[in-house]
Amino acid sequence: MRVNGLPQRSIWLNDDGWSVNVIDQTRLPHAFEIINLKTLEAACTAIRDMVVRGAPLIGITAAYGYSLALRQNASNQSLQQAYRALLATRPTAVNLRWALERMQNRIEQLPCHERAQAALKEAQVMADQDIKTNRRIGEHGLEIIRQHAVDKTDGEPVNILTHCNAGWLATVDWGTATAPIYLAHDEGIPLHIWVDETRPRNQGAHLTAWELGHHGIPHSLISDNTGGHLMQHDLVDLCLVGSDRTAANGDVCNKIGTYLKALSARDNGIPFYVCLPSSTIDWSITEGRNIPIEQRDDQEILEITGKHSDGSIKTVSIAPDNTVGINYAFDVTPARLITGLITEKGVSEASRSAMQIKFQGSPS
Ligand code: MRU
Repeated sequence: MRVNGLPQRSIWLNDDGWSVNVIDQTRLPHAFEIINLKTLEAACTAIRDMVVRGAPLIGITAAYGYSLALRQNASNQSLQQAYRALLATRPTAVNLRWALERMQNRIEQLPCHERAQAALKEAQVMADQDIKTNRRIGEHGLEIIRQHAVDKTDGEPVNILTHCNAGWLATVDWGTATAPIYLAHDEGIPLHIWVDETRPRNQGAHLTAWELGHHGIPHSLISDNTGGHLMQHDLVDLCLVGSDRTAANGDVCNKIGTYLKALSARDNGIPFYVCLPSSTIDWSITEGRNIPIEQRDDQEILEITGKHSDGSIKTVSIAPDNTVGINYAFDVTPARLITGLITEKGVSEASRSAMQIKFQGSPS
């Protein structure tokens, strides 16, 4: 999408033809800085420290990280070490494992001297495919937004609520939940997006609001507790969120707080859609309660970071000293609360049977 009017991806090959550039997402929205990744270790750190984040981008960064490892050493041992090191960086987003398995399957059968180049090529293919996949998600989601736009009069906007950042910064481009939004906006459908701030790391405030602003899409930032009130007052037409892992029965794991939005949406008769690439479906997990939920440092709960009026970036404490915080990063929304899964293959009911037909060709 665009930054200062210019097209921008979240990850791209450096001019040297082998190292990888990413946007440092820990510095947004107050600074736009690029980090150059040259080693496996740098790629692992970027994922672990959330320089890059969002399920699809984590997967693509891992694929590039794997190629960087093989450039250093392409032996069987190095290949296994890279796989294990990258897999250990973050536990919940299944695209990480999906990407690494794809790399491993493609590379391990090759002679050592061909591996690094082939791995880089595969990572590039995956990055390009991610863009196409998200655009397809966008096209399917656009149909749904168009249906809501029909009921509007006098340029009234379709009001969409989104949680966390399932935008282009969480993918290579387009985003998942934002892909339909960008396409609808570009087609001239008036939109207004409610952006959940998404404590504790504020991906909504820091990233989604920044993205939408650069694309000229009207939006308002809201505290995480506001969605239910808006829904009760007919101020939300539909919800679009992303997913970090979707179980085989259609339960969706996404950023903490997603479940509460789905409950409010159900209580108020508002459609609640999840936008995801099929690589986010974990067929080995039968139901959402078995998805590993990342627990992060309680510092993220106890502190908040922002820009001071003098322009400096400051982190301040928001709780009494010695308070203990508990920081679950994700929750699971049961399939019964989900109106549909918007994927590159079309919209599927969030159920085992519908998903098997849509993605695996037949019920089993
Ligand atoms: O902890 P994060 O920032 O990696 O969490 C990201 C999310 O929860 C996104 O909604 C999800 O990855 C879908 S992104 C297309």
